[in-house]
Amino acid sequence: MWSFVSTWPFSRQTAEIGAEVLKNGGKAMDAVIEGIHRVESDPNVDCVGKGGFLNEKGELALDAAVMDGDTLKTGAVCAVRGFENPVDIARALMDNTRHSILVGTGAEEFARKMGIPESAMEDLITETARENWRQAAGIGHDTIGAIALDENGSMAVATSTSGANMKLCGRVGDSPIIGSGFYVESGVGGACATGWGEDIMRTCCSYRCVSLMADGMSPAEAVAKVVRTAHETIVRHGGRPDCIALVCMNAKGECAAACNHREFSYVYVWEGMNAPLVIEKEPVIDKDAGDKFIDGVVGYER
Ligand code: GLY
Repeated sequence: MWSFVSTWPFSRQTAEIGAEVLKNGGKAMDAVIEGIHRVESDPNVDCVGKGGFLNEKGELALDAAVMDGDTLKTGAVCAVRGFENPVDIARALMDNTRHSILVGTGAEEFARKMGIPESAMEDLITETARENWRQAAGIGHDTIGAIALDENGSMAVATSTSGANMKLCGRVGDSPIIGSGFYVESGVGGACATGWGEDIMRTCCSYRCVSLMADGMSPAEAVAKVVRTAHETIVRHGGRPDCIALVCMNAKGECAAACNHREFSYVYVWEGMNAPLVIEKEPVIDKDAGDKFIDGVVGYER
């Protein structure tokens, strides 16, 4: 039994590629990497790879990560400039070294050593991204995250993002941070996040979600509890939560998602389906409607 889940409707192409890999008996790791690679190279996706949001200096600085649920090995890169596909650098780090995270110039030097193709910064920046930056418009911060289960029971997760629009130089969000933006353990489950990285990091959302599934919760219960708890904890400590959304999958390939804001959708496909399904979520707790917990909204579950 294989299964694949990813964040946001633009990841439909990711799920189609991932499904193709898994259908042909491929590995969960290849499914998430190949699927995310495609979105990184799509200039029309404004928050990932080529065409992504720019930092305060007008540079494209990308974050990405991978995790292998069989070995718990991870690879992550932060604030990488001049590369279209940071997820490939993250995987090369995981596969070829004993390290987990490289930042900035160190990650760029490593990528060159690994023969990963470089691009001129200007070739990675679209007119739309430049215009958003000129106007400081749009508060963008979305992430593509994908989780896969393959026919051997192996699970993998990967994430990629340009991070927050107009971020400070050197700022790192949740997406390359283990346990916050992503986590997976084969035989238990995986989770990954999208939203305002600072809020996701301070509540360690992805590890908490996997941990609740390890304790026996269904994906829908676990993910709803994590988002609700993260939101309420920030409020309890005097904060104002921004967007938090998570998708997750258990070791049986059952998936669910939860969010604290409107207009979040995710994409799900498993071997019993002909094509990926885009599923729109109602918030489990609504940051724009008085933090009201919406009882009974526990997400989609196969
Ligand atoms: N969730 C992406 C970021 O905040 O960088």
